[in-house]
Amino acid sequence: MSVQIDLKDRKAVVFGIADDRSIAWHIAKRLNDAGCRIAAAYQERAEPSFLPMMKELHNPVYARCDVVSDELLDSFFKKVKDEFGEVDFLIHSIAFAKKEHLRGKYLDIDRKGYQTAQEVSAYSLAELARRTAPMMKDGGSIIAMTYIGAEKAVSGYGIMGVAKAALESGTRYLACDLGERRIRVNAISAGPIATLAASGIANFGEILVNSAAKSPLKRNVTADEVADCALFLCSDLSRAITGQVIHVDAGYCITGG
Ligand SMILES: NC(=O)c1ccc[n+]([C@@H]2O[C@H](COP(=O)([O-])OP(=O)(O)OC[C@H]3O[C@@H](n4cnc5c(N)ncnc54)[C@H](O)[C@@H]3O)[C@@H](O)[C@H]2O)c1
Repeated sequence: MSVQIDLKDRKAVVFGIADDRSIAWHIAKRLNDAGCRIAAAYQERAEPSFLPMMKELHNPVYARCDVVSDELLDSFFKKVKDEFGEVDFLIHSIAFAKKEHLRGKYLDIDRKGYQTAQEVSAYSLAELARRTAPMMKDGGSIIAMTYIGAEKAVSGYGIMGVAKAALESGTRYLACDLGERRIRVNAISAGPIATLAASGIANFGEILVNSAAKSPLKRNVTADEVADCALFLCSDLSRAITGQVIHVDAGYCITGG
């Protein structure tokens, strides 16, 4: 398939690259291949897999960051401002909940577990948008990653489903807050993909089998297919689209179970 989208001279901030299975990595590669420079943030624990991958990008900027640390956020965004000056895109592809909270019932989540999941997975979209928007001088596109567990109760996804519901709602409010500045904010609701984060979900193997069996296209999706949608949302082809949750899930979300 040959699609020409030119993002030459554009710049993207990307959060969420842990290894080469990360959805954020596939998005970063797609945008980079289209000519866009990438500023990537990585968590310390991902460093061994993250650093060698940067050699595959053209002229990237990267630094350690964690969305729960103001100090690391300040230094990351200072680096982005110093190196890029202006930014066009923000990719938010991060989520976190303690493993034990992804294995039990939502009923049993304690306050701290709830706060952590919400802070990292949902609040951080507003935090990153607030820090990136002033650099989006000529409009921009912000993309978050979500999952059907925000809309329906998916067994084993409890706490993260609640966080994703906040993320999706946040997408709509941010779209309203930033629309006047021609900054669009959308979320991609991806079908299940075997990544590091997905391995924390207790019955993920079952979820993969079910979604392939029930989706109209009778298959699962790939991270590259999600990245194609991100490329579209960064391009002018999507210039009238904001505040949306776009499903890239082989149609699974339309089925009745
Ligand atoms: N894999 C799937 O099936 C699937 C489906 C739909 C949506 N998603 C979403 O896609 C996004 C990316 O996940 P993935 O599947 O590529 O897994 P992944 O493990 O590769 O990526 C998750 C990323 O979140 C980052 N992260 C976690 N806590 C952080 C923090 N405090 N500060 C900064 N970064 C932090 C990790 O370093 C990692 O890079 C997540 O939002 C996830 O919920 C995944």
